[in-house]
Amino acid sequence: MSKKWLSVMVLAMFMLTLGLAGCGGDKQQGKKVLKIGTDPGFAPFEFQDEKSKEYVGFDIDLIKALGTKMGYEVQIQNMNFDGLIPALEAGNIDATVAGMTIKEERAKKVLFSKPYYQSGLIVAVKNDNNTIKSVKDLEGKRIAVQIGTTGADAAKKIPNAVVREFNNAPEAFMELKAGGADAVINDKPVTAYYLKQGGDKDAKMVGDVLQAEEYGIAMNKKSTELKTKMDKALDEMKASGEYDKLYEKWFGKKQ
Ligand code: ARG
Repeated sequence: MSKKWLSVMVLAMFMLTLGLAGCGGDKQQGKKVLKIGTDPGFAPFEFQDEKSKEYVGFDIDLIKALGTKMGYEVQIQNMNFDGLIPALEAGNIDATVAGMTIKEERAKKVLFSKPYYQSGLIVAVKNDNNTIKSVKDLEGKRIAVQIGTTGADAAKKIPNAVVREFNNAPEAFMELKAGGADAVINDKPVTAYYLKQGGDKDAKMVGDVLQAEEYGIAMNKKSTELKTKMDKALDEMKASGEYDKLYEKWFGKKQ
């Protein structure tokens, strides 16, 4: 083979390699992308900053920090809460961080990371309501919840309750405020944040936490490697104090 041919071929192969590298649309400067689905109507875990329009919150900071540790660039996608598990199953997203409670029925469909947050459900009613003092007083009442959540499951167990399901938690609170519901059952840290942000003009929390819950990051059933990495990164964040810093940023000092 002539020298000229050889150099033409080397050049051709070089171009081909370049072309192929360009096809990996998910790769930017060699960094792998981690597609994260969430429902950003769940402050202070995930919500849209009014000014910057960016997704912010405890979960968002957490997944970004975990992503950096694992060498991923994190991309956040806005979805309905009840669409997150189907999206994971279909492989449209790699993981979801959405204040999602670890529960058996879900664990049949997805892989959960180690628990990363202790939570629980609470009842909220209007300030002037003096008859509903706890979940026991909810029989036959109208209850607003977010569709597909543990709050919705709990409401459906209450005898004769009329359960109204909304796409997100803020809509459930709006229904309470408008008088279309007698109570909201929702995650306590989210309800507490809503009240603190001005919701306490209309509403209050009553009774004890209905059930203790733990949040986990959910992944596709097949992503065992990712789960191992995720758990390790979580352990590292807890050991280094990074986790506590994030916790304090969004919830104040741990009691
Ligand atoms: N913890 C509850 C559940 O898993 C509610 C989560 C809702 N999360 C959200 N981002 N809207 O069912």
